[in-house]
Amino acid sequence: MESIQFAPIIVGTMRLGEWGAKMNLAELEKFVEGCLEMGLNDFDHADIYGHYSTESDFGKLLKHNPSLRQKIQITTKSGICLTTERKPEFLTNTYNNSKDHILKQAEESLRLLETDYLDLLLIHRPDFLMDPHEIAEAFTHLKAQGKVKHFGVSNFTPIQFDILNSIFPLETNQVEISITRLDAFEDGTLLQCQKNRIAPTSWSPLGGGKVFEKTADEQILRIQKVGNELAEKYQVGLDQILLAWLIKHPAGIIPVIGTSKIERVKSALDACKIELTRQDWYLLWKASTGKDID
Ligand SMILES: NC(=O)c1ccc[n+]([C@@H]2O[C@H](COP(=O)([O-])OP(=O)(O)OC[C@H]3O[C@@H](n4cnc5c(N)ncnc54)[C@H](OP(=O)(O)O)[C@@H]3O)[C@@H](O)[C@H]2O)c1
Repeated sequence: MESIQFAPIIVGTMRLGEWGAKMNLAELEKFVEGCLEMGLNDFDHADIYGHYSTESDFGKLLKHNPSLRQKIQITTKSGICLTTERKPEFLTNTYNNSKDHILKQAEESLRLLETDYLDLLLIHRPDFLMDPHEIAEAFTHLKAQGKVKHFGVSNFTPIQFDILNSIFPLETNQVEISITRLDAFEDGTLLQCQKNRIAPTSWSPLGGGKVFEKTADEQILRIQKVGNELAEKYQVGLDQILLAWLIKHPAGIIPVIGTSKIERVKSALDACKIELTRQDWYLLWKASTGKDID
């Protein structure tokens, strides 16, 4: 099977439901249709979003409007067990990347999302007790059953990725990358994606919104100053400068954006056309780190 092809921007669902905008069915449908009109067909879920309610919100939409399913790609994640009234069996927060849990949660995601296949399943976080062979067995089983087409991980270190990838081929590592979170540039994560020719996907690409807030945080203030100067220079918004900064990396970072506003989705897509100069890229790097490079 061919590798997964992502749209230039992935639409995150974490803040669309109970954990954010609390969209009703009509609002969610309008938002999803608006994304599709722009050619953005990738929707990023996780079992836990909205305390296990957002997959179900999306599933209700797919049931209400079944023609949407063939137009979209659904990513979901499993492996975090969050304590909530909806899961009385979870007595404490844990990670669980056991074969049984991956298989059980995949079935549950399929049920809640009202679909018979997932386009991409990610292991949400490395579990201290994980056995990569068990994860590979679960993936192999789900693939053979046709229930999941593509597989990847999230928040894995390069060594964790490498070990699992040597047993079962992975198609992305979804990690936090933004002007406020630079680790992936320095810890080998991006280089590893380049080596394996897979697209890194970046969650909270706008720092979860904190780059827009009024704050006394010195790093954010530096980023806002330089970012706004560049926004003026390129005649675009601060959000677009910060996304263009990510997209410039030759690894081909695909931002997983979290806005619930369709005009901000459009703004993110338009950011893909901006070409920051190398000097402007380093000006933002310096604003983030607070120091010049050596
Ligand atoms: N794999 C993981 O471990 C993991 C962890 C966290 C998230 N994720 C995924 O990543 C996605 C994105 O994460 P995120 O929501 O933190 O991403 P983000 O895009 O960095 O932040 C989104 C937040 O920023 C605000 N925002 C965006 N543009 C703005 C602007 N121009 N002005 C003011 N506020 C603005 C949004 O508010 P509005 O809605 O008002 O625009 C929203 O609250 C999630 O939906 C989820 O799918 C994955």
